[in-house]
Amino acid sequence: MSCERLLVDMYQPCGYLARVHIPAHIRAVQPFLAMELMERAQEMERGGIHVVHLEIGEPDFEPPPAALQACAEALGSGQTNYTDSRGLPELRDAIAADKTRRTGSSVDPARVIVTSGTSPAMLMVFGLLLAPGDEVVIPSPHYACYPNFVRFCGGTPVAVPCDPAAGYAVDVDAVRSALTPRTRAIVVGTPANPTGAIQSRETLEALASLGVPLVCDEIYDGLVYGDARVTSALEITDQAFVLDGFSKRYAMTGFRLGYVIAPEAALRTLQSLQQNLFISASEFVQRAGIAALEQGGATIEAARASLAPRRRLLIDGLRQLGFEIPVEPEGAFYVFVDARAFSGDSLALANELLDRAHVAVTPGIDFGAAGEGWLRFCYAAPEADLREALARLSRWAAAARPSA
Ligand SMILES: Cc1ncc(COP(=O)(O)O)c(C=O)c1O
Repeated sequence: MSCERLLVDMYQPCGYLARVHIPAHIRAVQPFLAMELMERAQEMERGGIHVVHLEIGEPDFEPPPAALQACAEALGSGQTNYTDSRGLPELRDAIAADKTRRTGSSVDPARVIVTSGTSPAMLMVFGLLLAPGDEVVIPSPHYACYPNFVRFCGGTPVAVPCDPAAGYAVDVDAVRSALTPRTRAIVVGTPANPTGAIQSRETLEALASLGVPLVCDEIYDGLVYGDARVTSALEITDQAFVLDGFSKRYAMTGFRLGYVIAPEAALRTLQSLQQNLFISASEFVQRAGIAALEQGGATIEAARASLAPRRRLLIDGLRQLGFEIPVEPEGAFYVFVDARAFSGDSLALANELLDRAHVAVTPGIDFGAAGEGWLRFCYAAPEADLREALARLSRWAAAARPSA
């Protein structure tokens, strides 16, 4: 008898040793590298090292004052309970009204399910759509967590690369070729993380016409620059699952508030999933959400105005350092750069920049194989931090490439 077996037999009755079996599809969930880098940077900071943080998608501006006030008042007046699992009726009305105004397409509040962040909405949508072995087509580079949600639900992510030279427009023919009888969804973000690309109406129409549910992540809607305009999947079909939330344009990441606007046929199941998995979003947080939607327009406008020059500063500065940026981001708050002049291994490079330059960035491999050799820089950071990061990177680049 092996030593291990003996120990199990001895202690099992006392409950001391229980073998944890993690199924293969859960072990396949990869670490979220942006978080890994942030956590390592924070460890360094605890050791007294100053790090410039450009790795995480955390806006540096404040939430709408009305949202803070509504949240505090709700807490003060005892609004600390469960709500209707689908969200407070007033919030669902406000979300539907906001999306109707933004898209020009009438959204029925009955199609809105409020969640504790966009991430739980994503989990429920993939949970609803996938059985083990089903496939989800994901144009790539993509938000790091999409494939992991799919894996968690027993599905298989199928990446379809997007060409930077085409502005990261989703290649509809390539998506069509990737479809199989097991395909249950196509996921697209617009504006996208990490590329900042916005998909055209024609592309979204073509994707919606492929006969597979479209899951459209619109969390960066509103954070666009120049003349760019976002087309919502809601303008094209009432059969898409539209994901959105308050984290980015209202800088309410820690509130954990999001939603999905779903096809009618999915609503009852989503309600049941929400009742079981999460019960409801926090009541006082939902009150903050209503106030943000009703009075937070100025926050979005101010964010856009202040992000635009920082976007320019970072793009120009990184280009001067030798990073390639074949297409400038139209939305969100990231610059996705080709760093292959420095290294083909984006994780090793991100770790080196953290260790040697004390600048935290996200390795491109986090966003799929199409992102290998690239890095993502977030410019929703104070301008002084961006300048300091560029100065540190310049010193690092001079040392890394003495001949440059
Ligand atoms: C594209 C995208 N979708 C969803 C999320 C998750 O958002 P939330 O904070 O609402 O869960 C993020 C966060 O970075 C994101 O970039």
